[in-house]
Amino acid sequence: CGIIGILGQTPVAPLLVDALKRLEYRGYDSAGIATLEDGHVERLRAEGKLRNLEAKLATVGRMGRSGIGHTRWATHGAPTERNAHPHATDRLAVVHNGIIENFRELRRDLEAAGRVFVSDTDTEVVAHLVTARLDEGMSPRDAVQASLGALEGAFALAFLFEGEDDLLIGARRGSPLAIGWGSNEMFLGSDAIALGPFTDEVTYLDDGDWVVLTRAGATIYDAAGQEVGRVVTRTQGATYVVDKGNHRHFMVKEIHEQPEVVGHTLAHYLDLANGIAKVPSGIDFAAIDRLSITACGTAYYAGFVAKYWFERLARLPVDIDIASEFRYREQPLSRNGLSIVISQSGETADTLASLRYAKGEGQKIAAVVNVQESTIAREADIRLPTLAGAEIGVASTKAFTAQLSVLAATAVAAGKARGVLSAEDEGKLVRALSEVPRLMHQVLKLDEQIEALARELAKVKHCLYLGRGTSYPIALEGALKLKEISYIHAEGYAAGELKHGPIALIDEDMPVVVIAPYDRVFEKTVSNMQEVAARGGRIILITDRKGQEAAAIDTLATIILPEMPAIVTPLVYAIPVQLLAYHTAVFMGTDVDQPRNLAKSVTVE
Ligand code: G6P
Repeated sequence: CGIIGILGQTPVAPLLVDALKRLEYRGYDSAGIATLEDGHVERLRAEGKLRNLEAKLATVGRMGRSGIGHTRWATHGAPTERNAHPHATDRLAVVHNGIIENFRELRRDLEAAGRVFVSDTDTEVVAHLVTARLDEGMSPRDAVQASLGALEGAFALAFLFEGEDDLLIGARRGSPLAIGWGSNEMFLGSDAIALGPFTDEVTYLDDGDWVVLTRAGATIYDAAGQEVGRVVTRTQGATYVVDKGNHRHFMVKEIHEQPEVVGHTLAHYLDLANGIAKVPSGIDFAAIDRLSITACGTAYYAGFVAKYWFERLARLPVDIDIASEFRYREQPLSRNGLSIVISQSGETADTLASLRYAKGEGQKIAAVVNVQESTIAREADIRLPTLAGAEIGVASTKAFTAQLSVLAATAVAAGKARGVLSAEDEGKLVRALSEVPRLMHQVLKLDEQIEALARELAKVKHCLYLGRGTSYPIALEGALKLKEISYIHAEGYAAGELKHGPIALIDEDMPVVVIAPYDRVFEKTVSNMQEVAARGGRIILITDRKGQEAAAIDTLATIILPEMPAIVTPLVYAIPVQLLAYHTAVFMGTDVDQPRNLAKSVTVE
């Protein structure tokens, strides 16, 4: 899931491991490095966390000044040392992100030609394919070029060659890869964060590019083999503080950053002094007749909330899709449609494929994206940045509320542009949004109460989340957060749907978290809570003072938030569900920032 390559001036093994640590946030389950020791490729690989790799490194001397490293998130083959990258032959070592889709055919052919495979991975075919060409007498450069054409699927690759101390070759198709420029040193990395300690001069390869690195510089080729120039950008990679500060985990640090990043993001999209939501340039909402929103995971739930906003505030019909469905569903897209894709990383494979599909269907594409150098940011027609800063915790928190901020502001702008909202309505909504950072501050003070409740939640095996209206996607997000970091089984449901199935599960061992601000659908949700209470279900109610009074129901706990206008509730109510999941996971003793089996940036289908 993370790649690093270094042509350095000092022993690179410790540098490779440090860079991999900066990539830890992307999620992984094994890791490895290869360095060139007196001209020979030597590998070191370990299952599990990087400390296992470090422990091995401490027992062997590694002095090589060129090397590659990798953190692996298993796709083909279990996360064992045997399957960990780098994969190697007697001629080279290679690390790979992505999936080689035609690896079975390639492996069959290579085995028929006498090549012996030792892992279950798709990556190993790349090692053998290039080796076969080297054995035919090709140079490393030609061997890689000739092999790339045979590969189907998505990849970022970095190669280190036996006997070639001043050479690394990288390639990208689908998965991101960047070049870092040093002085008499050169680097490859899967993102600017990995390259941060070494350089802030970075070149992002375009899709299909491949590159030959020596300490003196880089020669970049496009998919057709033409030498090409690509811009060098200055990144903030070096200034990303990949540091937990006083917090125990990145996740809780990022939860607490929300008032600030949401304030930042809203200020970008709202003209607070004049009570105006700015229409993003390039979008004519009056001319659009349909919106399709596509994303994965938490970003999908942000899009789901946005559907309610755009439909209600701008009377704009919205289709919301999970990207992995959208890309193959072949739905008819309207001629005057706008597609919005939402992605923190800007690299999620399914979301990127959806963007390309919609583009191919003639849609204009707007991307709500956090990493501005990412592929999705670069391929979109209109970029709607979230100003959340680097998000390290695998479970998305501040990126989610930053996405909601962009979408809320844009929905208000759309409502005004389409003549649904008056200037006065717009002013009210803008003022309401401007209050979000203050409200979030207040809600963060409930941390201790929520922590105490989490102690109870950590004892259960299953949990249900209910919500109605814009609280429904927040219920889905709450359940996702709980399951992904605490491993407690949780489901989110539309409150009104309870009676059509999940009510059969209700008993005292199945707590029900109800997200119910006192809004226009509150009374309906109360009826659903009564149905739970009548069956002995224990309720955790997240509401406000008015809601508590109106519900008049016995609960296991009631978390009382300040009263607030309906448009802001999804942003603010996200915080208690995040904190509840976080503290529960801490009580469960799980690896909160890097939950098992999950990756931060999913560049495979
Ligand atoms: C992974 C992460 C989630 C994230 C999703 C979409 O599953 O674990 O936290 O919501 O990918 O990622 P994106 O970068 O596209 O927002």
